This record gives sequence, structure tokens and C-alpha cells, in this order.
Amino acid sequence: MLAALRWLAIATVVATAAGFVWLEWPAPLERLPAGVSSAAPGMADRGAYLVRAAACLPCHWDKKNGGQRFAGGRQIKTQFGTFYTPNISPDDETGIGKWSDAEFVRALKHGVGRSGEQLYPTFPYTSYRFMKVEDVLAIKAYLMTQNAVHSPDKRHALRFPYSWRALVKIWKLQHGVEPQSLADDPAQSAAWNRGRYLVTAVGHCAECHSPRDAQGVTVATAWLQGNPHGPDGWKVPALAGPRAKDFAGWSRDQIADYLESGSKPDFDQAQGPMAEVITEGTKYLTAEDRLAIADYLRSLSTPH
Ligand code: HEC
Ligand code: HEC
Repeated sequence: MLAALRWLAIATVVATAAGFVWLEWPAPLERLPAGVSSAAPGMADRGAYLVRAAACLPCHWDKKNGGQRFAGGRQIKTQFGTFYTPNISPDDETGIGKWSDAEFVRALKHGVGRSGEQLYPTFPYTSYRFMKVEDVLAIKAYLMTQNAVHSPDKRHALRFPYSWRALVKIWKLQHGVEPQSLADDPAQSAAWNRGRYLVTAVGHCAECHSPRDAQGVTVATAWLQGNPHGPDGWKVPALAGPRAKDFAGWSRDQIADYLESGSKPDFDQAQGPMAEVITEGTKYLTAEDRLAIADYLRSLSTPH
């Protein structure tokens, strides 16, 4: 009896230790497809456009407190505690100056940091993981042309157990959060496919416009169907599904105009986080891309 108990105790300790090692084990670095590189010609220009479309800057800039562009430090309050965004300027010591292409792709598509540590999904890699590798590298190329700002990252202030970073690994496994590619749907127009890519991957619209469950995961079956508990307490309207009744009445041009100027068909102006998405992001897209987003959104909200 005693011997059995002893074995049980040993087995428990070994299993716990193994679980701990598995959790803390750094994620591997994948080899990138041959021939893709952030150093290829034209990448920085392409990246400048995508950084706007992906709205990287508003999060990685503590504009309110006089911070520098891309140097991070912006506070993001969530139900799990307070996050401070890291420095993604090309500073060698405190930014991403020394990151390799493969490390950068791993961060955006896998949600893994430079040392192989798990990154929290407050960084919306849950959407960016759908981006094309070339697009991710174009973003890196652009960031590398920006001012290097020496500014060490601030520690997040999270509640236990959320403060234990490695637990994100379990969460990813549970929810199937892994790199994805969005194959074009041949039954749809090129504009629709472009719109779907911009909404799903780059523009990460679902991060705010989809409801979240108790674990903070966007509910896939209610894609873009609105979120009563959006960022900073904002109610985020539905762009698809039964609750998008109002939005279903917007024309293609009205949607595209809104994404450019923020004015709604009833002459109201976009407020809060959406005003920022427009002024830092969709306003700078080409008219063609805004119409592509409109085409895609209309296909979700209008009955067919
Ligand atoms: C909604 C806010 C938000 C947006 C938008 C956002 N990020 Fe972040 N990002 C974060 C947060 C928060 C972290 C820190 C995550 C952590 O500590 O685990 C982060 C981490 C990172 C990291 C890892 C840095 C490090 O030192 O480990 C990189 C690289 C990064 N972001 C790049 C980008 C790029 C490029 C974009 C645009 C394509 C972007 N981010 C958009 C919030 C954001
Ligand atoms: C950071 C959170 C956030 C992100 C990301 C976001 N939105 Fe919004 N969106 C909101 C909020 C909040 C509102 C409501 C704004 C208001 O009340 O003026 C809104 C409103 C809208 C509306 C108006 C709908 C209506 O019925 O009034 C449209 C259209 C829209 N967003 C499209 C998009 C698209 C397209 C994207 C991705 C490119 C996107 N949003 C990304 C938060 C967000």
C-alpha cells in the first residue's frame, strides 16, 4: 500500500514536471519558403500600405503620453489585466532591429516571441495568422526603415494565472490557433476575395466585431455578428447575421465612404475605436480596396 502510494507520488511529480517542461519549451523556428525575403526590392513600400491596413501603429505608439512611433508603451486594459505594447521600432537592443525574417513571421503567424516564448493574443495574431508570408515580410521591411527608438518594454500587469505566459500554449491548442492561409474562392470575384483577405487577415475586423466567449476567444459561429462588450466598453455593431439589420441597408458606396471619412449614411460620425481604425487605417487604403471590403461585407449582411 505504502509502496503504491510512493509510486503514485513519484508518477505525479514526473508528470507535473513533464507538463511544465512541455509548456515552457520554446516554440521552434520554421524555415521560410525559398526566395521570400524582406530585403527584396519594393518590399518596404508594400509594407507601408499594409501597416496602415493592419493598424499596427495605433497599438504600438503611446501617442497620448508623448511616446514615439512604433516604440510601444501604449496601455491596453483587459479583463485579464493591463498590457503594455512592446517596442517594434528597429532598435537593436530594445526593438526588433536584430530579428530575423523567420522570427518576425513566427511572431505574426504563430504568436511566438523572439526567444520562442508565447505571446498573448491581445496582439491580434489570431487574425494576422491568415496573412501571406510575403505580406508579413513586407511589413518587416517597412518597420526597418523607421526611426530606431531606444525604449525598453514595460512589464504587463496581469492577474494570476494569466501572468503565466506559457499557458497561452494550452489556449492555442484548445482553440486551434495556428497559421492559416486563405485560399481564394473561385466562385467569387477577385474583389470579394481581396475584401475577405483585408477583413479577415490584415484589417482584423473580427477582433472587435465578433463576440467573445468567457475565455476571450472570438466565437467563430457568430463571425462579425457584433460584440456588446467591445474594447474600452464600446458596443460594436454587427456587420453580419440577424443583428446586422441596419447595416444590411448600407450600399456598397456608403460602406466604402464610411471607411474613408467615418460618416454614416445618417450623417453620424464614427466614434471611439472605429474612428481610430478609419483615421489610422482604412482612410489610407485605395478606393478599390475599400470597395472590395464593401463587396465582401455586403455578401455577409444581405440575404441571398
Ligand atoms: C490591438 C493592439 C495591437 C495591434 C493592432 C498590433 N499589436 Fe503587436 N503587440 C500587441 C501587444 C499587446 C503585444 C505584446 C504581446 C505579449 O507580450 O505577449 C504585441 C507584440 C508584438 C510583437 C512581439 C514583440 C516582442 O518584443 O516580443 C511584434 C513583432 C508585433 N507586436 C508586431 C506588430 C505588427 C507588425 C502589427 C501590425 C501588423 C501589430 N503588432 C499590431 C498589440 C498589438
Ligand atoms: C478596435 C475595434 C474595431 C476594429 C478593429 C474594427 N471596428 Fe468597426 N466598429 C467598431 C466600433 C466600436 C464601432 C461603432 C462605432 C460608432 O458607434 O460610431 C464600429 C463600427 C463599424 C461600422 C459601422 C456599422 C454600423 O452599423 O454603424 C462598420 C461598417 C465597421 N465598423 C467596419 C469595420 C471594418 C471593415 C473593420 C476592419 C477593417 C473594422 N470595422 C474594424 C470597432 C472596431
